[in-house]
Amino acid sequence: MPVITPRPVNIDFPGDTPRFWCANSPFISHFFDAFSTTLPVGEDLFIFSLRQVRQQITDPRLQKDISGFIGQEAFHSREHTKYNQLLKRWGYDIDSMDRSLARSTRIIRSRLNTFQVLAVTLSCEHLTSILSAAILRGDFMSDADPQLKALWHWHSVEEIEHKAVAWDVYQALGGTYRTRVIWMNFAMALIGVRVTARLLHMLRRDGLLFSGAVWREGLRFLFGKGGLFRVLKQDFLDFYRRDFHPWQHDTLHLTETWKAGYSASSSGSASQEAAAS
Ligand SMILES: [Fe+2]
Ligand SMILES: [Fe+2]
Repeated sequence: MPVITPRPVNIDFPGDTPRFWCANSPFISHFFDAFSTTLPVGEDLFIFSLRQVRQQITDPRLQKDISGFIGQEAFHSREHTKYNQLLKRWGYDIDSMDRSLARSTRIIRSRLNTFQVLAVTLSCEHLTSILSAAILRGDFMSDADPQLKALWHWHSVEEIEHKAVAWDVYQALGGTYRTRVIWMNFAMALIGVRVTARLLHMLRRDGLLFSGAVWREGLRFLFGKGGLFRVLKQDFLDFYRRDFHPWQHDTLHLTETWKAGYSASSSGSASQEAAAS
């Protein structure tokens, strides 16, 4: 199992960052943009869910993993906030998105018990880790702006490193199969609705909401051969196996090239990372 290492990076976005930064596609770019807009608030919730229970964890290795997880998610939240500021400069209503999602996570924090919040976290971690593996395999970002690609690659490497932490904490505390499945379904509905609404908002602001070409490309990206749902489907469904554990997906090798490039650099800057990938 990897040592979970928070790696502070500092990725800035120059004024000429292209709005359709991924495959020159409004739909694909905004899909990832929309996902990014959920992350700072979401990652705060994940940190909260582990902090709530960490005093019950006696295994020193798992305690160390929790510290690594919290450190990594805190840095992700910071860098995605910068990314989201770029989206705000482009005219998208990021502030109201944040307020709205924060209202939902406040309800989750106050109404759900510790197991249920942890189940939401490990469900989101499952989704982000399988998406991260696809990104690092080059499924979706082979043609992308170097700065934004660097951000997603860095984030993806660390999502893979810490993908089992919430899971292991949940197991150690006796979390049940039923609860994790129920809250996975809830988490996917919440993410699905939020990401879709934000994607539509961005396309509307671009004046592309009713563009046939954009939607044809979008549907190909979502449902076509090599598209998002086909690529992620089996890995996603594995979550529903009773005996599943995240490391049954052996994805650590996908992080090695990036990590070698990061170690060789002194600051982990975007350009050095991009050169390594
Ligand atoms: Fe993250
Ligand atoms: Fe994560």
